[in-house]
Amino acid sequence: MALILGLESSCDETAAALVSCAREVRAHRLARQEAQHRPYGGVVPEIAARAHVEALGPLVEAALADAGVSLNDVDAIAATAGPGLIGGVMVGLVTGKALALAAGKPLIAVNHLEGHALSPRLADPDLGFPYLLLLVSGGHCQLLLVEGVGAYRRLATTIDDAAGEAFDKTAKMLGLGFPGGPAVEEAASRGTPRIPLPRPLVGSGEPHFSFAGLKSAVARIANDYPPEDVAASFQQAVVDCLIDRTRIALGKVKVLALVVAGGVAANRAVRGALQELAAEQGVRFVAPPLWLCTDNAAMIAWAGAERFAAGFSDPLDVPARARWPL
Ligand code: KG4
Ligand code: ZN
Repeated sequence: MALILGLESSCDETAAALVSCAREVRAHRLARQEAQHRPYGGVVPEIAARAHVEALGPLVEAALADAGVSLNDVDAIAATAGPGLIGGVMVGLVTGKALALAAGKPLIAVNHLEGHALSPRLADPDLGFPYLLLLVSGGHCQLLLVEGVGAYRRLATTIDDAAGEAFDKTAKMLGLGFPGGPAVEEAASRGTPRIPLPRPLVGSGEPHFSFAGLKSAVARIANDYPPEDVAASFQQAVVDCLIDRTRIALGKVKVLALVVAGGVAANRAVRGALQELAAEQGVRFVAPPLWLCTDNAAMIAWAGAERFAAGFSDPLDVPARARWPL
């Protein structure tokens, strides 16, 4: 069964993984840069790119050792080619090109969003096409109709901020630190969602998203209430927006399953509410395990495996792209 080496370096996680076309995760290694970015309260692109340079080579060696294979045993090399912070994307893609050239193996340039979009199929062999995907991460908030490998139809996107960005900004306003999503979720678990906050676009006919108004509303009240109640009220507002918008999209397409992916999919309140929505609408609900929701290289290796099986590969001069819509 074909074995794919995947590389990820588009934001602040450096990662290498080996995944087979039979869905075996033979190795997955990940190095976080949180400590390096924490003093700045967010990801600093130049620091990220340098950290990727230092971390990636050893991670690839460690992943190969974990799986007990050498580069010659790998059938293809998949690397994130965008979208993301361009310095970081270049580090991973150039590394992938060098390994592909040295080992004489095909290169597969993976769109990071496609990595998230197909990741639920790594965890669930029964998840067939088509499915409705809610992709919620730090940079994106989209509803996609996934009809096959390479066949994605965007039904909706955010008109301003991504949901993860709103979590990160809220964490910053509440002094909960960086990265924000897990910190807000933890604080919310101790609070009560009693503060009235807006639900932008809820009720509108097209399933787009907006979080800027919610963020401003949180900024206005952040100092007037205990942080755990602000966190709980904010999280409830985000959940209500995601559910309302996803319900509208489900009414527009015929799918077998509702699927969630991306970093915000790690949030238990979000997962729980989507599960209820799927039950209400009579479709299956699929969410990848938590470790596969946030950025990692197994999802890139798996997207590479799906593309490899479908006969796709890329030339060695394929460019790194900061922007690359699916
Ligand atoms: O997919 P991801 O790892 O990176 C991007 O491609 O953006 O997503 C990171 C985002 C961050 O905004 C982070 O705060 C958010 O996902 N996140 C969460 C949780 N874990 C990560 N948001 C809410 N609750 C969480 N438990
Ligand atoms: Zn991501």
